[in-house]
Amino acid sequence: MTNVVIGAASGMGAAVARQLAPRGPLLVADWNLEGVQQVASELGGDVETLLCDVTNQSQIDELFSKVKDLAAVVVTAGVSGGQAPGRKIFEVNLIGMARVFRAAEPLLRPGSVGIGVASQSGYLVPENAELFAVLEDPLAPDFFDKLSGFFDVDDSSLAYQMSKRGVHRLVRHKAAEWGALGARIMSVSPGINDTPMNRALEANQPVMADIIRSSPLGRRGTPEEIANVISFVTSDAASLLTGSDVLADGGMVSVLPPTWGGKLRVPAGS
Ligand SMILES: NC(=O)c1ccc[n+]([C@@H]2O[C@H](COP(=O)([O-])OP(=O)(O)OC[C@H]3O[C@@H](n4cnc5c(N)ncnc54)[C@H](O)[C@@H]3O)[C@@H](O)[C@H]2O)c1
Repeated sequence: MTNVVIGAASGMGAAVARQLAPRGPLLVADWNLEGVQQVASELGGDVETLLCDVTNQSQIDELFSKVKDLAAVVVTAGVSGGQAPGRKIFEVNLIGMARVFRAAEPLLRPGSVGIGVASQSGYLVPENAELFAVLEDPLAPDFFDKLSGFFDVDDSSLAYQMSKRGVHRLVRHKAAEWGALGARIMSVSPGINDTPMNRALEANQPVMADIIRSSPLGRRGTPEEIANVISFVTSDAASLLTGSDVLADGGMVSVLPPTWGGKLRVPAGS
């Protein structure tokens, strides 16, 4: 039974790889091959590394061609609002994740698990049934056409939040299909976490220090704390959890400033 971690070269993905390695065969992948090889060299055991960009279908297919029995596939690969334009953020965070889950489906068997890393910021996106229906089908050819009716997809900060809301909706939408095969799929939403991604963001956004300070635990999460949660949700002890999101943010979402006032449109005719 093989565990797969995509996005394992850094931050939470590397921490997840460390926790899953003792469970047996592990395949760790990232678009940063050198980074993931470095992580693997510190793990030892039955660990294989692979180049996999989640926006590249043939690299995803190659990855799953190496897996016979799938225990868990964990997707931590992601880019933040400051790292890429809005559409690219969707292509990695939501469309890429959907591609990975779709490619994993032929390998599902009772007990298989899919985990997507989302974000507390997904909770800032207002509830809207028409919007959610669009987010649940990110592989639709007209995805961006439909989505751009609701908001400015080129606003990278809003795009990040929306992409993560999309991860919540994607796993919820897929849960029945996976459940019919005895498999589970869900997401985990970190708050501000002490990883390279976050350090880059904090340097440019001083408001983040205030958010951390005023949050219930008054601190960032750590990659190991998120890996602890993922270790649990990928275990048999979490056998009733599917289609849901685990918010692992130290209570931080309660102090996030609202960002969507007036920015979510409802397209005419929807
Ligand atoms: N750090 C935070 O505060 C925070 C908060 C909430 C959610 N998240 C989410 O957690 C996840 C992990 O973030 P992190 O903080 O560990 O970041 P990180 O930058 O340390 O790690 C992200 C990894 O994803 C890889 N990656 C990026 N694009 C990829 C692609 N197209 N294909 C394959 N790999 C790719 C990167 O090379 C990197 O190794 C991300 O999805 C991020 O959006 C992070």
